[in-house]
Amino acid sequence: MRVLFVCLGNICRSPTAEGVLRHQLQAAGLADHVQVASAGTGDWHVGSPPDSRTCKAALGRGYDLSGQRAQQVKAGHFAEYDLILAMDESNLGQLRAMRPEASTGELDLFLRRYGAALDEVPDPYYGGADGFEQVLDLIEDACKALVLEIKGRV
Ligand code: 4NP
Repeated sequence: MRVLFVCLGNICRSPTAEGVLRHQLQAAGLADHVQVASAGTGDWHVGSPPDSRTCKAALGRGYDLSGQRAQQVKAGHFAEYDLILAMDESNLGQLRAMRPEASTGELDLFLRRYGAALDEVPDPYYGGADGFEQVLDLIEDACKALVLEIKGRV
């Protein structure tokens, strides 16, 4: 199974989701069954590591994101991933607009699908440190539900 997380810049929310899901899959003994990646709808940060505030908050909970590099989402990703999960409605709208008609992979809003209190992961980029902790809280909870679904699928 192949999972792609998508946000706007691919330096805050989706790299966090990539790191958290990898970590939880490893703990569940499922890492060999699932390919995980992330991408952004925008191209401003392509080739860059995640935002330093994102890395710091993630490392505080044991997730090392330093090896990740930002990429922009492209139409070809719809053939490469079985499940594409958007962080907010704007990301989802952009993905729907670029999705090839023949695409069979699933596309959904990450938190709506995995039962969180919020539907969207708020963009922490222009806010304070607490925003990055909230991103982690939301993503950790939703990833638990995603791992349960993956257990039933692989
Ligand atoms: P992300 O956050 O979509 O969670 O990676 C952002 C990163 C960069 C920008 C906006 C949001 N930006 O405008 O550069």
